[in-house]
Amino acid sequence: MTAAPTPFDFSHPYERIVPRPRMPGFAAVIDGVDLTRPIDAPTRTELRRALAQFEVIFFDPQPLTPAQHVALAEVFGPVSGGSFFERHPEVPGMEMIVNDAERPPGIDIWHTDLSWQPEPPMGTAIQIVETPPHGGNTCWASTSKAFAALSPGLQAYLRPLTATHTWERSGFRDALAKRGTDALVEAVRRYPPVSHPVALVHPDSGRTCLYVNGAFTKRIDGIDYRESEAMLAMLTAWIARPEFVVHHAWTAHGIAVWDNRCTQHYALADYFPHRRVNRRVTFDVPGSAGHGNVNAEVLGGRALG
Ligand SMILES: [Fe+2]
Repeated sequence: MTAAPTPFDFSHPYERIVPRPRMPGFAAVIDGVDLTRPIDAPTRTELRRALAQFEVIFFDPQPLTPAQHVALAEVFGPVSGGSFFERHPEVPGMEMIVNDAERPPGIDIWHTDLSWQPEPPMGTAIQIVETPPHGGNTCWASTSKAFAALSPGLQAYLRPLTATHTWERSGFRDALAKRGTDALVEAVRRYPPVSHPVALVHPDSGRTCLYVNGAFTKRIDGIDYRESEAMLAMLTAWIARPEFVVHHAWTAHGIAVWDNRCTQHYALADYFPHRRVNRRVTFDVPGSAGHGNVNAEVLGGRALG
């Protein structure tokens, strides 16, 4: 199948940056960029192309100030409302995910950030500023690789389908239920389920991506629920195949930027009770309405971000 036209020419050589893919066509370490200095326009264009081509990109450790971190995110899109994590005291666009003995890690599930929103974020730039003595890796799965490896018959079956995504599938629901029926009803009213394509054609790469995830995808629309449940179980297990997954071990001040439309991620929770500090800045698709309306009060201050 021929890929759809895209804004980027992946056959053109890179001149400003040096991507080193860690897997075939996926997950590149980017050399040649000093992120502590202003990023010029040609380098920004190449970074956007690299994210479209490799889906998650890494930078070797470079301690970034919050302003430099925000500037990196803004290479790809406008800073978004983010999720419900604690904010940096001086930089509201920056979330701080601090885990330790009192705050156990809880993002050890494959997911796409905020897929229960009509316009989920485009991606996120994270820097792990404090690493545990061991463990605390993050995994990303390429959902374009996952789709490409399916049989042509299953691909054809999935292409016209949509699926319903809702926060109600996740742990938010239990947290809200503990606060009472009114809290739950208000959240249901404010954030109804949304529908997205099961086979999402990525506008920047032209690749088709499997867009269902185990955290938020409730059902495939328009088919019997038993068929939906079996298909979702198969697809979410398929996406996690090691051939589609990069497993990243962090060094303090290492940086990753991922595209939320063509990847899923899983933050290993194996380092508890040690401390790990993650700074992150989320960005929206340029020109989209974004998702700045997520309200922590309504949803009980919980999210998978
Ligand atoms: Fe996340």
